[in-house]
Amino acid sequence: MRRAFIAGNWKMNLNLASSVALVEGLVKATADCDDVDVAVCPPSVYLSAVAQAAAGSKVGVGAQNMYHEPDGAFTGELSGAMLKDVGCRYVILGHSERRNILGESSEDVNLKVHAALSAGLIPIVCVGELLAERKANKTMDVIRRQFDGSISGLTADQMKQVVIAYEPVWAIGTGEVATPAQAEEVHLALRKLMEDRYNKEVAETVRIQYGGSVKPDNAAELLAQPNIDGALVGGASLKVEPFVGIIAGARKK
Ligand code: PGA
Repeated sequence: MRRAFIAGNWKMNLNLASSVALVEGLVKATADCDDVDVAVCPPSVYLSAVAQAAAGSKVGVGAQNMYHEPDGAFTGELSGAMLKDVGCRYVILGHSERRNILGESSEDVNLKVHAALSAGLIPIVCVGELLAERKANKTMDVIRRQFDGSISGLTADQMKQVVIAYEPVWAIGTGEVATPAQAEEVHLALRKLMEDRYNKEVAETVRIQYGGSVKPDNAAELLAQPNIDGALVGGASLKVEPFVGIIAGARKK
């Protein structure tokens, strides 16, 4: 039985005071939440403060990106060890905004996935098709290419530690959510792909989050699908109430 996992991706939003206030609110609201994993991924400059405010609570902390080298002359970058050092447990890798706006390739993501696991971080690896790709019936080709490229070279044991997030790009921040059936179709295909590339145990272990306009009023229905194990939430993770509403949807699973 896979444990549901709800993560908030704050992207480039909030400030120091509002980040700390938000996590403090979430810490209170999730005090009795023993059946769902919860995490927030603030902007990197606020990681330390957010991790301190969340210490000892049910709210885990993750970064939104990292660099693959362990240290050295890489101006502006952060290593996995640095993220661990300030209290991160997770790191989002290959988010579509990084792939499409900042030009990250699956090869870049793959280097980061290996480095994250070496640093003891749990990578949340994002895959997802553009609207034009879905319309051209290329969804599964894109997902397969991104998945294979991003997890290349991982052993079965390493793969079991990874979280996959399926985020159709056309549903991110648009209010246009994939239907539960559309999302489940891709999640099931991803699970079959993992069985094919690894084995049944890996496929049954890895959690696959859905992301793209998840809100309290659509979360329960999405999360009720057998292969949707959680959500990666953008806009609705920026306030306590909607994020807690989504966690409540996961608890019904
Ligand atoms: P959204 O973002 O919930 O605002 O659509 C999801 C994401 O990009 O992770």
